[in-house]
Amino acid sequence: MDFEVDIKQNTRTKKSYRKFDVEDVRKDFPILKRLVNGKSLVYLDNAATSQKPQSVINAITNYYTYENANIHRGLHFLSELATESYEGARLKVKEFVNAMSVSEIIFVRGATEAINLVANSLCRANYFNDGDEILISHMEHHSNIVPWQLLCERKNLKLKVVPVNDKGEFIFEEYEKLLSEKTKLVSIVHISNALGTINPVKEIVKKAHEYNIPVLLDGAQAVPHAKVDVQDLDCDFYVFSGHKVFGPTGIGVLYGKTEFLDKMPPFQGGGDMIREVTFEKTTYEDLPQKFEAGTPNIVGGIALGAALDYLTSFDINEISNHEDSLLKYGTEKLLQIDGLKIIGTSDRKASVISFVIDGIHPYDIGTIIDTDGIAIRTGHHCTMPLIKRFNLPATARASFSMYNKIEEIDHLYNALLKVKRMFT
Ligand code: ALA
Repeated sequence: MDFEVDIKQNTRTKKSYRKFDVEDVRKDFPILKRLVNGKSLVYLDNAATSQKPQSVINAITNYYTYENANIHRGLHFLSELATESYEGARLKVKEFVNAMSVSEIIFVRGATEAINLVANSLCRANYFNDGDEILISHMEHHSNIVPWQLLCERKNLKLKVVPVNDKGEFIFEEYEKLLSEKTKLVSIVHISNALGTINPVKEIVKKAHEYNIPVLLDGAQAVPHAKVDVQDLDCDFYVFSGHKVFGPTGIGVLYGKTEFLDKMPPFQGGGDMIREVTFEKTTYEDLPQKFEAGTPNIVGGIALGAALDYLTSFDINEISNHEDSLLKYGTEKLLQIDGLKIIGTSDRKASVISFVIDGIHPYDIGTIIDTDGIAIRTGHHCTMPLIKRFNLPATARASFSMYNKIEEIDHLYNALLKVKRMFT
């Protein structure tokens, strides 16, 4: 956000950023002080989930200590306070992704639920016909594969897959070839959680729109690392999870253009999404309530707002530059290890190094370096088809965040040398 937002006044003033200093940033994350197996924690599993700054932890405690009440329902003081905080968080999300309106921001459980919502609601709207196609890419997370497969089974649709090249890049020419009058939706990841590849999403959207095809972008891995502007991208849907962007688990966001969300029927039924209920017929609330059935994750929404406040107190370009230097240093350092190969070598990458070492299973790597307090992820990273594309059972993945520093990559490097010694 380049502007400060005053929720009550809805005014904007030019913002001044906090200076980015990694040692200062680290002080904001209490978990980074802890020991693991007697060693200082080196947390390099940020693509799985990020750690939380004290301000987010405080927002949760503060809500339950002073504000807890149900929202949109009561006229009493606490209910109004909780409603104001929750809706204030929605406004922060709207500013964060630069949506046109707060009614385009739907709070959900996470990116996975957001994609399931779009799939199910479009299905109920009879948007798809027999034989229609949905286009995804070979580097999708399972959450951007399985909801569409479930839909394909229900409606006799076809799932088409844009291949990736040996560097782990989206092949645009193949994408162009796969687009046709049968394509009804394109759903593509913005930044790959498994490889770190940054996809040319603006061009992907532009090309699909030439055929009048709407585009959903999975931004779960993108929002902590780069400025996202949904109006500039011109995507029709954008989804992300709160927990990867310094917020809590169990909260996420679906952004959708009003022209779509308005026409789409509810995903779930229950309280808060209704206008009037009779046994004969129910009418629904306007956006965004139409898609938020039941008591929502109130504290999650508020804490996500605090997380975005934290992130946007810095200039996102300074964060990206810092993470890019970690990526560059880490790539050069790890490639010094004999037999280590990086999977995902695109020139356009963010914050992820996925790798294998000859003759050593990734699980062994992860387990051994954990004894040195180093946390990475090993496995398929919820992208089984992608890992199979590289003829691998698994990779080891180090993923960086704004609070990581060069010395931590040196620790990783030394721990990997130790693993190598154990196996030779
Ligand atoms: N999708 C998460 C990951 O990349 C869990 O590890």
